[in-house]
Order: sequence, then structure tokens, then C-alpha cells
Amino acid sequence: MKFTLPKLNFTFDALEPNIDAQTVETHYTKHHQGYMDNFQILVDKYPELKNLTAEKILTDLEKLNINNIDRTKLKNMGGGYLNHNIYWSNLNPNNTKDKNLIKKINRDFGSIKKFKEQFTQLATTLFGSGWVWLVEKSDGKLDIYQLPNQDSPLTLGHKPILALDVWEHAYYLKYKNKRIDYINAWWNLIKLI
Ligand SMILES: [Fe+2]
Repeated sequence: MKFTLPKLNFTFDALEPNIDAQTVETHYTKHHQGYMDNFQILVDKYPELKNLTAEKILTDLEKLNINNIDRTKLKNMGGGYLNHNIYWSNLNPNNTKDKNLIKKINRDFGSIKKFKEQFTQLATTLFGSGWVWLVEKSDGKLDIYQLPNQDSPLTLGHKPILALDVWEHAYYLKYKNKRIDYINAWWNLIKLI
């Protein structure tokens, strides 16, 4: 499988002033690209992985017949690749509101306001590097949680819906240590709700 970076349907400066152009460009062309390149190198080491999608590799990570050092690397690099795919797709300025998702959020969190408060709380309190996720579980219920590093909800058997990257590389150039300002700016870009 030859992995590719998803083409951004927007220019690097399209998320201004919420996320600055330099951050978007560096995040996409250096960080995201780097995860994908390293993931490709790892996958190419194992003939049994070569026909699997990145999603399948992350979903079946614990079952793969590979050494544990490479399993950890696949988790980090494959997660870094797929997590950022979701991050950019969430931020596409052409997105429109998803009425079905809004209905499910209201059902499972009580209201959009409560959902945003809980999600923001998780994003502000995440210690170190990681992501906050809105996922759908196998029973159809939504959940939100923090995951460290580049761990993927796929490995937990959950379908990722909304991804907030709170690694410092996602905001530090503009927001420095003010993570909460980045989180609030990120919400301005989320058209799903
Ligand atoms: Fe990132």
C-alpha cells in the first residue's frame, strides 16, 4: 500500500486568524508528512502488511505478527498519519453542519453546549502531548476522551469523528503557552456542530 497525504481542500492561510498559515504549512508538510513517511518505511518492512489499509493496521495493531518495538512505532507513526487526516478533514472550510451528528450529540451529551464544555475541559487538562476525541462506539453511542501521543481510537475499536490535536506543534507558533486560546479558535472552525 502506498500511502498518500490527503490533499487539503484549502490554502494554508484559509484558517486565519484562528490557525495561522505558517502553523498549517509546517503541521501539514513537516509533521504530518513525517509521520506518513515513517509509517510507510515500517509497513514496507513486512510483506504481510503490504495489502492492508492504514485503518486496518491500526485497528488490528495488537494482533499483528510483528515485534513489539515495531508495533509501538506503527502505533506512533500510523496514528500520526491517520489522526492528522481526520484533523484536516474536520477543519475544511467547505464543511457544512452535520444534522445527524448534532442529533446524536444532543442525545448523548444533553446539549451542544454541554458537549463543548466537556470536550474543552478534556483538551485543557490533557497533560503532555495527545489528542481529544469524539468517537462512536460499536453500540452507536458517542463518547469523548483523551488519548496520549498519537494513539488512535481505531485501536480501541471506536470510530473517530472529531479530533483535536493538542500537541504544541499544532499551536505554539501563534498561541505559545495559551492552549485555551487555540482550543477556542479551533471551535470557530468546526462546522460539524
Ligand atoms: Fe499534529
